[in-house]
This record gives sequence, C-alpha cells and structure tokens, in this order.
Amino acid sequence: MIRRFDYGTPLPTDALVQEIPLCGETLPFFTVAKTENGLTFTYPLGREELIYGLGETVRGINKRGHIYRSWNSDEFSHHEDKQSLYASHNLLIFSGEGKPFGVFFDDPGEVIFDLGYTGADTAAITSVNGDLRLYLIEEDSLNAIVRSFRQAIGQCYLPPKWAFGYIQSRWGYAADGEVRTIVNEHRSRHIPLDGVCMDIDYMVDYKDFSWNKEAFPDLRQLSADMKQEHIRLIPIIDAGVKQQEGYDVCDEGLRNGYFCTCEDGTPFVGAVWPGRSYFPDFFRPEVREWFGKKYHGLMEQGIEGFWNDMNEPALFYSERGIAEARQELTKLLDMNLGLDAFFHLKDVLMGMQNNRRDYASFYHKYAGQQVRHDRVHNLYGGFMTRAAHEGLRSYDPDKRHLIFSRASYVGAHRWGGVWQGDNTSWWSHILMNLKMLPSLNMCGFLYTGADLGGFSGNTTEDLLLRWLQLGVFTPLMRNHSALHTRDQEIYRFGMQEDMKNILTVRYALLPYLYSEFMKNALTGGSMFRPLAFDYPEDAAALRIEDQLMLGEGCMIAPVYEQNARGRNVYLPEDMLLVRFRSAEDYCLIPMEKGRHWIDLDLNEMPLFIRKGCIVPLSRGGEWVEAVDFDTLTLLGWLDGDAAYAIYNDDGTVAAPVLADGLREIRVRTADGKAAAEAQGLTVDAAKLIVG
Ligand code: GLC
Repeated sequence: MIRRFDYGTPLPTDALVQEIPLCGETLPFFTVAKTENGLTFTYPLGREELIYGLGETVRGINKRGHIYRSWNSDEFSHHEDKQSLYASHNLLIFSGEGKPFGVFFDDPGEVIFDLGYTGADTAAITSVNGDLRLYLIEEDSLNAIVRSFRQAIGQCYLPPKWAFGYIQSRWGYAADGEVRTIVNEHRSRHIPLDGVCMDIDYMVDYKDFSWNKEAFPDLRQLSADMKQEHIRLIPIIDAGVKQQEGYDVCDEGLRNGYFCTCEDGTPFVGAVWPGRSYFPDFFRPEVREWFGKKYHGLMEQGIEGFWNDMNEPALFYSERGIAEARQELTKLLDMNLGLDAFFHLKDVLMGMQNNRRDYASFYHKYAGQQVRHDRVHNLYGGFMTRAAHEGLRSYDPDKRHLIFSRASYVGAHRWGGVWQGDNTSWWSHILMNLKMLPSLNMCGFLYTGADLGGFSGNTTEDLLLRWLQLGVFTPLMRNHSALHTRDQEIYRFGMQEDMKNILTVRYALLPYLYSEFMKNALTGGSMFRPLAFDYPEDAAALRIEDQLMLGEGCMIAPVYEQNARGRNVYLPEDMLLVRFRSAEDYCLIPMEKGRHWIDLDLNEMPLFIRKGCIVPLSRGGEWVEAVDFDTLTLLGWLDGDAAYAIYNDDGTVAAPVLADGLREIRVRTADGKAAAEAQGLTVDAAKLIVG
C-alpha cells in the first residue's frame, strides 16, 4: 500500500507513473517541523534498525550513520566523505523491529538525509524547498516494498541485448584508425567485445552532434565496418552547447529560446569542456523534442547507442564566477600570501566550479511558471536522458537503443541506464560500486555498472582483473578510463589471458543474466539484492555488506582486496560454489550454510548457486549475437526436481512481452541422477549435482 502526503506546493517530477491520491491522514512514524534548513521529517531509529535505499551514493548498503545530500554533483574522484554524487534517488527503506516501511521524498531540490549522523538514534530528513510529495510504502517484506515502489514509478528502461556485451571506452580515443586498432587488438586475441565508446575527442571543439571530419573522414563507413565485426560505436553527448555563432545547435537554440535563462530572460552562460556554453531547458517538451532529434544525425551514420554526460549539469565557471575571481585575484596576487590569504585564493579558484550561486541564478520554464534552477536541480540530467530516449525512439520506434547517463533522478530509470560516475583506480572502489548495485535496483535503475579498472588514477593489472570479476555480473560492463591515465585496455597487460578468460564467463552466463535482467525489469523486481532482503530472519545475513543476491538463484562475493588469494563468505543456506577460471575451466563445490574461507587465485572468481536452483550456461561467444541461448549446460546442486524459466528475444524488440520470451527448463531427479527437458532447447544436465 502506498499513501501520499503533500507539503507546501510540490512541483511535478514525473517520478511516478501511478496516480496515488492524497491521503487525508496524519503521516505516521515521523514528526514534521520547519527548521532553519527547510522542512524536517524526524524519525527515531531503533537500536538495530537498518536503512536501505538512496540509489547511487557512497558508503554502505545500510545507509545508517552518515549524512547524504540529494544534489546532483559532478564529483570527479569521489570518496566516502562525499555527501552527494551524480544522482538523487530519494527512497529510504527502514527495517527495524516492527514491519519495514519505505518512504520516497519526491522533491527535485536539495534534500538532506541525516541518517543517524548528528544523533545516532535519529533520522532527520530535510527538504530545503519545503515543497514535496512524500510517499509512504507499507508492505509485508523488504522485497515487497521495492516491488510496490517500482510499480508506482513504472517499468525501467530496456537496453538492446548487444548492450550486455563488453564495452571498451577511454577518454582520448580521437580517430577512426584508433577505433579500428582497438577492435583489431581485441578480435585478433579473441577477447570478447561488443562496443567501443567515443568520448568527447570525436567532436569538433567539444560541440554536441558534431564530429571531426579529419579524424573521422567517413563515420558511416567506420560504423558499418564495425557492425561487420559485431561492434557498436557509442558516442558521448554533453549537456552544455558551445556558445558559437554559426554552430547550428547554438544558433537554433538561441533563435527559438530553447536555453535556460537568467532572471532577465537572457540565456544563461556557463562553461564546460567547450568553454562558454548554453544549457538546453530540457524541462520543456518542445526543447526535448528538438534536442532529441539532434541525435538522428549520428544515427544516420549507423550509431545505435549514446551516453549522456555532464548533465547535473556540471559548471566549470560562470560569468559571475569569473568576474568575482578576477577581482579577488587582482587583490590577492599583490599580497604576501600567508595562511589565510593563500587558502582563500585557493577557495576563490576552486569555488568557481559547480558553485551553488550559479545554480540559483538561472531559470526553467516549467509547469507554467518560471522556476529557479536550484528548486528543481536534480531533474535536469534525467530530463536530458528523456530527450535522448524520446529522440532515439522517434528515429526507430520498433527498436531498443542504448542510452546511459551520468546524472539522474527517480523517473529517469524509465528513459535510460546510468553508469556510476567517475570512480578511481582504488581497491575500495570495487566495493563501493558493488554496494551501489542493490540500492540502484531498488530505485528502478537496472541497467548500470561502474567504470571497470577505475576512471581516474592509474590502474594495475590485478585491480582490473578483480574489477572485471565483479563486472561480469553488471548489465553495463564497460572498461573506461580518464585522459592521461595509464592505458587500460585488456590487451595492454601481461594478465590479458586471465582477463579474457574472465570475459568468457560473462558471455557464458548471458542467458542467465539476460533472463534475470528482463524478468526483473518487466515485473519490477531487483536483479541485485542485499542478503537481508532474501533472508530477513537470518541475523548474520542482515549485516553482510560485500555479497549480493543476483537474480533468482545466485549469490556473488567478489574479491576486492589487493593481494588477496581468497575471501571470507557467509552462506545463508547451502549453496554450490562455482569457481570459474573461464567458461570452460571451472569446478563445482557443494558448500553448507555458514561461514567459510574460500581460496581464490587472482584468476579465479566465485559464483554461488542456491541449493535447488539451476543456472544455465551457454558456450559463450566473442560477441553477444554469437551466443547461442538454445544450447545450454545446467549448473546446480539439487535435492529434488527443479525448474528455471529462461528468457530470450531478438534483442531489439521495443516492447517485449515476458510470456512470449519465457521457456521452462525442467529437471527431474531420481537415483542420484538428473534428467532435463526444455522446449526447443538443447540442455545438458550432466554437470548437475544431485544429493
Ligand atoms: C566526465 C565523464 C567521463 C568522461 C569525461 C570526458 O568526467 O564522467 O566519463 O570520460 O567527462 O568526457
């Protein structure tokens, strides 16, 4: 059951698709009061109460003990002290002594979540706007709360099947020849690959929808040649539009008044990669339509996927910021800089970037009013993704396209996926990215993944290898790194054979991963869940922060520590450990419920299958379309009959029907042996362990 409570004059966010009528009762659980920062909802936390949710955030799966701030931020090289990242997903789920409940603070402005930080026994959530809709979700279990919320916010975005393949990316790929070389290096070594991302360097002066005709003399040919190799090109599109006369996107935007404006109605200017830029007012349908159709130019060259970036929106500086800095600099640079003056100088310069005063200085035309940006800040990135999604759909309504974004708010899960932002080549970030997965799923974002190997900083080969061992399971599996960092493509490293072998596991598992993605996407379930969600009665499972349930039958527990040759694992029930070196080289070890140390060499990764469940394994392939979903080996440890519903479709159909794609695999066990039957599939049950 979901109940709605309104405060002040809420602005629409389009987070929900379900109409929930206003509830006339008083909000239970919370006390509500005006405070100096806004409107605060206070809830007393039970001693052992856990808090889930908040989607893309740092720190634990259990959010208790830290302060988070919903304010979409360009947080290059973030760490656990950060309160905000690129996205705002205002769902909390409280799980204490009584029945668990969820709360969604539907507020597009800044919201501060003090979750036992100021006072260990208090959660205080403050809406700075003071205008919001609050949805209270009460169901019998944690999983039921998520399903109920997900039903209210609508079906998540579905990528094409090829987007489940391995994608190679790097900031710095700048020419046709370079893309071809990367692909050749993978193909000649039989390293699986399905896509190559093109970062800002493919453009002319970082201008959206342009491409450098010298570096890419025939983009259509390149993209056709790549498709022959079963590779898709995935160019980046940024939110800021370069201010330049004669640049069509800029000229059209100005002529039609499509950009965000200052208070006096003149277009707002902020700087990003191209220097001074304008920002499309994605809040207006006509602007979204115009911008969305701009993607068609690249699609005519054969492009089928994009990533949207810098859409918090990131602002390097504004005219105001530059003017103030200039004034301060003139003053400061003539001084003999001591402690205070020097740090002030630093603040002046650093403070120009993503400055709050800039976000409070421009406006949208939204919901029939002129709305100051900071009141609706967190919607901007999602609405850009919406523009792209609608544009891509209008180009080819029958087909799914790849689109993923950096910034988002709940609602944007219907229009695209998200990647987890600019992480760093640190071991701790493997774990950070793992912890984001279930929280993102709760908030509707199923197509997600992190920059494998780490974005900023220099990776090491053991770090990349271990990170790939987590990436095997994430729907978006992309290796991405920043300009001027060490080359990070698999073939650069001595351990490339081990990395390739790990990729073969991904492709072999595709029938399971794709089935679990589609089944959960189409029914509002989570592909990744904290153990607590599936084993609420198991006190040990409640506190596990480095293992996740994956789909119906699996648990994952990757290694995330340098030089580790294994790890501790808690099994909440009997499970079959599959220790993979590659899709062909693995061993099966039945293990009992409880705590275990598992040996795992650097080139080995574990997958745990719940006793009684079946996981289908394909023979893999070097690209997604080569994977045969119909010829399968079954893995599992059974003590009776079992079944698994596998899903498949053509990989591109825009509105897939779950029932049409499902086929049941049935296994019967007798006398210590298993026999399988599955309509239209060839299944091998010889690897199933019975007993
Ligand atoms: C941003 C993105 C990153 C990209 C870079 C250059 O930092 O998050 O992925 O490589 O911009 O476009």
